[in-house]
Amino acid sequence: EKAGFDHFMLKEIHEQPKAYRDTMLGRISDDGRSVALPELKITAEQLKEINRVHIVACGTALHAGLVGKNVIENLVRIPVETDVASEYRYRSPIITPDTLVIVVSQSGETADTLAALREAQRCGARVLAITNVVGSSVAREADDVIITLAGPEIAVASTKAYSSQLIAFFLFGLYWAQTIGTKDEAEVAHVLAAMQSLPEQVEKILAQAEVLKEVVESISHHSSLFFIGRGIDYAVAMEGSLKLKEISYIHSEAYAAGELKHGTLALIEEGTPVIALLTQEDLYEKMLSNIKETKARGADVLGIINEGHEAEVAKSVDRQFAIPRTLPLLTPALSVVPLQLLSYYASLALGHDVDKPRNLAKSVTVE
Ligand code: M6R
Repeated sequence: EKAGFDHFMLKEIHEQPKAYRDTMLGRISDDGRSVALPELKITAEQLKEINRVHIVACGTALHAGLVGKNVIENLVRIPVETDVASEYRYRSPIITPDTLVIVVSQSGETADTLAALREAQRCGARVLAITNVVGSSVAREADDVIITLAGPEIAVASTKAYSSQLIAFFLFGLYWAQTIGTKDEAEVAHVLAAMQSLPEQVEKILAQAEVLKEVVESISHHSSLFFIGRGIDYAVAMEGSLKLKEISYIHSEAYAAGELKHGTLALIEEGTPVIALLTQEDLYEKMLSNIKETKARGADVLGIINEGHEAEVAKSVDRQFAIPRTLPLLTPALSVVPLQLLSYYASLALGHDVDKPRNLAKSVTVE
């Protein structure tokens, strides 16, 4: 049932190209110029009335939501807040009938996410669910549902469900943008073309998995490390950090790279591993100077970079892993893959139970 892989997690990491294709299948017009989401009941008129978005989820799904915030704000230009589901109800969120609440849940059974959905509906908001399980509680109760077609996810550590949630956000963001006209047809077509290359690009990354296996030595013997990034890379850094903690039990923190010098830099010492994401070209120089700040304190830096920057970045980092080029907004669908593999190899090297990490359940049905 593991289809020749040693663990479900590794199998599921390798299923991501298929999960991307399946999640896009039938949702992109044949001419590649528009998105169709016939499953949505929300009308174009209703979509035009929405003036704020709350994305609510837990754990990895929340991290997908942080990317979703970037995607919707960029494509649709409507303010988006992302909330931890277990906090949402207790902060008296401002929910109006013009608020769209998006809940994200692989299982569709997470108690806090379900409670947030109910609270949003009680306040008169429409709820859109992005979930992997047809017929789950979240799917049944939400007003609209976009199903991710990742297929069953067995490993406790979420991989293909997360990345398929990203695909769902790209599709929904584009659909919304084309509906209200914040992006014209040519712009939508441009993003869709880039999206359709993602499965093949992930395959390219997977083919280089061995490189990461070697890099793992540099982190698995440390008790603490940092993931840094700016913008959308920061959202991915959070997911990389959670994944590593969850299955390797190595402590790590994700930091917005520019925020390090406001306190946390004090923790960087000789040999501290830092994993730096550098996929956003417009933030590139700023990232390099943040990396320099950590190197000056002795950090051992692994850069996750865009193909083509290898020679240039070599001066600033100790190790690097290049991902294929895509549009800045779509990079999380690629950059998360080396981070998943790194966690997997770290867990393996340390002899932990990769698929069933201690203290954790696949689905958290208590609040
Ligand atoms: O089923 P859900 O997406 O609602 O689950 C949410 C989290 O419990 C889940 O993503 C958790 O953080 C994962 N184990 C992370 O890998």
